[in-house]
Amino acid sequence: MNASYVISSPSQIEPQHILSINDFNRSQIYQLLEQAKTWVNSTDELIAPAPLLANKTVINLLFENSTRTRSSFELAAKRLGAVVLNFNAGISSVRKGETLFDTVDNLAAMGADLFVIRHPEELAPAKVAAHLGQKAWVINAGDGCNEHPTQALLDMFTIWRYKNDFTRLSVAIVGDIKHSRVAHSDLQALTTLGVTDIRLVGPVELLPTTPLGSHVSLHQDLQKGIKDADVIIMLRIQKERMQAAALPLATDYFAQYGLTTDKLKFSKPDAIVMHPGPMNRGVEIESAVADGEQSVILRQVTFGIAVRMGLMVRLLT
Ligand code: NCD
Repeated sequence: MNASYVISSPSQIEPQHILSINDFNRSQIYQLLEQAKTWVNSTDELIAPAPLLANKTVINLLFENSTRTRSSFELAAKRLGAVVLNFNAGISSVRKGETLFDTVDNLAAMGADLFVIRHPEELAPAKVAAHLGQKAWVINAGDGCNEHPTQALLDMFTIWRYKNDFTRLSVAIVGDIKHSRVAHSDLQALTTLGVTDIRLVGPVELLPTTPLGSHVSLHQDLQKGIKDADVIIMLRIQKERMQAAALPLATDYFAQYGLTTDKLKFSKPDAIVMHPGPMNRGVEIESAVADGEQSVILRQVTFGIAVRMGLMVRLLT
């Protein structure tokens, strides 16, 4: 069973390395959201922070492609005055056979305080964290299909910003739930925050097969799945994480699961539409919806910087 499907009780220990959304209990998530809020103004723009991370060194160690997450961590760290190194695995000694631990040990010896790690292998950031102990902190920026805790936290910030009371919300997550680390972490975060109606929507082969609790329902029909929803989180088909045979045709997929202006009408009139990016327009989402009034997709990106600033301040100060 995929570890991220297990609804476990959050650890009472103050988290150090940030590896899983399960490292946070409800009050710890709210503390972080409150902290991030201090850096966002009333028109949803970022406020310049004090240089709380001057003299700290953050190393982005991303072994997978990334646009938003890498840039977001880099800008968040730089806004706080940290020195940031973007390690390029493609032109490094990793190509000469160096192990991940050796790479990390060398970068730690150069004074790294924090590693932001994305890796195709599940639990790779956790292994690095165990190896480093307290020499430097690790933030998991996505490990295979498993978890993406910082995306979940910025998603929770976005929902909180527009909807406030989590316990009264209906939230639909639509698409490739099975292979999406964002879905896995979002599901846990929504559960921790007390959401009682979470709908996972998609073709049966992309839905989880393990029991998730009475607050989670599975839907193969998009209209039913998003009916009267307050929040719709759209996901990309994770082509790189599945067998070619299991891939639905883009046109068929759009016809059944693509979120269009017409289908969006089944949800609440003030529903918000989210997407972690990268979006595939015309596959899971119509451009008119992605760019429409109910879309908060670019706000998520802005809020991601504030949330990551909060996480780094929590770890490094
Ligand atoms: C996601 C990821 O990499 O898991 N993107 C992101 O970090 N914003 C989602 C995806 O790849 O579809």
